[in-house]
Amino acid sequence: MNTSELSKKLNNYSAEEILEYFLKGYGDKVALSSSFGVEDQVLTHMMLCIDKGANIFTLDTGRLHPQTYNVMDATNLKYGIKVNVFFPNTNDVEKLYKDQGINGFYESIQNRKACCFTRKIEPLQRALSGLDVWVTGLRASQSVTRENLNLIEFDEVNQVIKVNPLLEWSEKEVWNFVKKHKIPYNSLHDEGFPSIGCAPCTRAVKDGEDVRSGRWWWENPEHKECGLHIK
Ligand code: ADX
Ligand code: SF4
Repeated sequence: MNTSELSKKLNNYSAEEILEYFLKGYGDKVALSSSFGVEDQVLTHMMLCIDKGANIFTLDTGRLHPQTYNVMDATNLKYGIKVNVFFPNTNDVEKLYKDQGINGFYESIQNRKACCFTRKIEPLQRALSGLDVWVTGLRASQSVTRENLNLIEFDEVNQVIKVNPLLEWSEKEVWNFVKKHKIPYNSLHDEGFPSIGCAPCTRAVKDGEDVRSGRWWWENPEHKECGLHIK
C-alpha cells in the first residue's frame, strides 16, 4: 500500500488506533522521535500503553534546557524505560565551534542551519537508519509551514514512512489528554513556551501569538524549520 492509500485507510482512525496499526504491523521498525514537548508526551504515553517496549528516541543537541532533562528523567521513571538518546558526533561539534563559535547561529541562517544539521539532522539520520516508520508529534495548526502536512507521508531523505497521528489535534485536546492521564510535561510550557527546542533558540511567547513564534524568533516564519521536517 502506498502512502496516499494508507492515509485514506487510516483517515478515520484515532491516534491510538493509528499507532496500534503501525506497532502491530512493523514492530521494532517503528520509532517515535521525542523532543519531550507536550505532543510527544501524549504519543509516548499512547505508544507505551500499546507496547511497553516501543522505540522512543530523542536527539540531545547538547543545548537543551535543564527543564527538558527533568521531564526526560520524569518520563523514564514513570514508564520504567530509558528513552534512546542520539548525540551529535563529537568531531562535528568541535568543527562547528571552530567555524562559527559557540552561538554562531544568531549571525546568519546559514550558520543556524549548519548548527541544526550537526546537532539534529545528522543524529536523526542515524536514529532512523534501518527503521520503516517514523512517528512525530507534528500538528497542522502549529505554524504556516505545517498547514499542508499529511497524516502519512514518505520521507524521501530517510526512506521511512512518516506518521503524524496528532496532525488534526488542537492544542487544547493535547493538554486535556495530558491532564487526564497525569502525564509528566516540561515545566517551560507553564512559563509561556508552547514549543520547545534548544535553549538559545527558544523563548516564551505572548498569549495569542503563533505557537512557534518563540523558535528562532529572529528569523522570518517561512525559514523557521530546522530541517528535521523538510520534504
Ligand atoms: S522542530 O523541527 O522545530 O525542532 P518541533 O520542536 O516543532 O520541531 O517538534 C516537532 C516534532 O519533531 C516533534 O514532535 C518530534 O517528533 C520531532 N523533534 C523535534 N525535536 C526533536 C528532538 N530534539 N529529538 C527528537 N525529536 C524531535
Ligand atoms: Fe543549534 Fe539552535 Fe538548531 Fe539547536 S536549534 S541545533 S542550538 S541552531
